[in-house]
Amino acid sequence: MSRIFISRIIPAPGLTLIKEHFPHFDLWTADLPPSRAELIERSRGVDGLLCLLTDKVDGELMDAIGPQLKVISSMSVGVDHIDVAAATARGIPVGNTPGVLTDATADQTFALLLAAARRITEGERFLRAGKWVTWSPSLLLGADLVGATLGIVGFGRIGQAVAKRAQGFDLHVIYHDPTAQPAYNTQPVDLDTLLRESDFVSIHVPLNSETKRLVNAEFLAKMKPNAVLVNAARGGILDQTALYHALKSGQIFAAALDVTDPEPLPMDSPLLELENCLIVPHLGSASKKTRDMMSLLAAQNLVAGLKGKRLPNCFNPQVYG
Ligand code: GLV
Repeated sequence: MSRIFISRIIPAPGLTLIKEHFPHFDLWTADLPPSRAELIERSRGVDGLLCLLTDKVDGELMDAIGPQLKVISSMSVGVDHIDVAAATARGIPVGNTPGVLTDATADQTFALLLAAARRITEGERFLRAGKWVTWSPSLLLGADLVGATLGIVGFGRIGQAVAKRAQGFDLHVIYHDPTAQPAYNTQPVDLDTLLRESDFVSIHVPLNSETKRLVNAEFLAKMKPNAVLVNAARGGILDQTALYHALKSGQIFAAALDVTDPEPLPMDSPLLELENCLIVPHLGSASKKTRDMMSLLAAQNLVAGLKGKRLPNCFNPQVYG
């Protein structure tokens, strides 16, 4: 009998599928994720681990689980919380959930972009604080989209879906991604050109050793003073201290973040003092349908791995030789 640990209650479609194939599994039912010690304890000896991006899955955990571990399936597209090299070295396939969250994340990116450009959350805070005394010609003026340039850093599935939406807003779109072909009337450019020309910069690269703190003081200094930065990728791509200084000094106009480092963002983060920094709690894929689909893909990967089949969405296909 296969032993399984699922590190949080996932949506019903995923749990139902797992149950159909493996009626008995261990499920972490608390709202908060298991601590490191709890994760090690509960997953020791399992054949399959279904985890979330809140779980750090490294070589130490894999060794604690044991050599019988057949599959690590994450209900996320990003796998920066998993030491994929360590899994590959141990011959363990790692599953993720690409594709199904592309549109939801691109929608969220656009929501953030528009909200930062038009100072939506700042305006709402202003109203709720009772400061709205009259319509004013100069109240909370923001940035226009029509005719502006959007620079997309990382032109994979989500970056392209953002470019597709940008067409409807008459944005001129350029992107930086040495591996991607142009799509949706976009032009590839080098990163310096993108930062020099863009009124909006949106980050869509995965977090890895090459992209960690890519958005640092030097990157921000190359942006236009009217520019808006959007990050719906991973918090670790951004240097939050550098962003704080760039926003505080008016080096850039505004930022909108779906992700932070760490998560949750500590309530004493200086970013929270800034009116021109919009932050939401990692909600890029947070729609009902998207999360249902993600749970299903994660379950399919888990079940396939446990049955010794190739994972339908395998992040490290090298394990199959
Ligand atoms: C969300 O951030 C994901 O990687 O799925």
